[in-house]
Amino acid sequence: MSLTASTPARPRTRNTAAALLAVALCVSLAACGGAGKKAAAGSGTDANGAKKLVFGFSQVGSESGWRAANTKSIQDAAKAAGFELKFSDAQQKQENQIAAIRTFIQQKVDVIGFSPVVVTGWDTVLKEAKTAGIPVILTDRAIDTQDKSLYKTFIGSDFVKEGTSAGQWLLDAEKANTGTVNIAELEGTTGSAPAIDRKKGFEDLVLKDPRFKLVADQTGDFTRAKGKEVMTAFLKAHKDINVLFAHNDDMAMGAIQAIEEAGLKPGKDIRIVSIDGVKDAFQAMVDGKIEVVVECNPLIGPQVMDLVRKLKDKAEVPARVESKEGVFTKDKAAAELPNRQY
Ligand code: AHR
Repeated sequence: MSLTASTPARPRTRNTAAALLAVALCVSLAACGGAGKKAAAGSGTDANGAKKLVFGFSQVGSESGWRAANTKSIQDAAKAAGFELKFSDAQQKQENQIAAIRTFIQQKVDVIGFSPVVVTGWDTVLKEAKTAGIPVILTDRAIDTQDKSLYKTFIGSDFVKEGTSAGQWLLDAEKANTGTVNIAELEGTTGSAPAIDRKKGFEDLVLKDPRFKLVADQTGDFTRAKGKEVMTAFLKAHKDINVLFAHNDDMAMGAIQAIEEAGLKPGKDIRIVSIDGVKDAFQAMVDGKIEVVVECNPLIGPQVMDLVRKLKDKAEVPARVESKEGVFTKDKAAAELPNRQY
């Protein structure tokens, strides 16, 4: 009885299951086939259904105008190259960058890039990337490591040269001065390559000359707010500052506010030497508030993507790619301002 009763039910169940499977297959085939081209946008495949190259990039943060331009250059260039960019903002924290790199390794991205917030402490995570067979590019900032095999290439500026160029401009500008020149220095993020190298390039040259004295130096973390805060403190502690050397334009712009609030004239009472070349700094040169800006080029996205493509293809890449940059004095600022892209 029970057999008779249940026997007809079995084929019905099988039929229903088969029908459901067929529907499910149709739905998934439709999704993969008919809608395939649409799914390509942002889905990891290109218009032909081929897998996109996946580039994991950990950015330092969004501390400055320079950084905003660098981020845009990386994002635009990755899009133009047809890569899938996994972008992570570390908010100037090394632990966030290490976590991002570990995530990229888990995700098995093709190439990892990062602009290291500080120079030390990368060996462990980079060994993990190497073991996973994922090539690494350093962009903008270098690291300190004995093991150069942990990354394939470094593309960015020569920060020591930038500091030296800033110092050379100051030596030339003060050539006729026989008195003492008191310098305040607003440094970038402590332990970062640009802060270490710009300081070295500038001080090694300028402080050899006994007329120049470094009366104040402190980090302003590459931000406008900190630049203003630290410059306010410098001005309270030292009534005799002649020159401000700022490791970037954002700190210089913050310092200008502090100088003006202290009732002094930037560019007259205190000469300002800065680095980066953002539009605001060019405007400040036109206004006579900054005297010279040493350019640091953030628009390296297209060159980075070239290197990413080569690494994915296992082609040779140079160990070091240096960005090209200039030095702009206030007399050239008005002509150059309309050309500035960041
Ligand atoms: O590493 C480049 C430096 O980082 C830029 O000079 C500065 O503005 C940025 O924060």
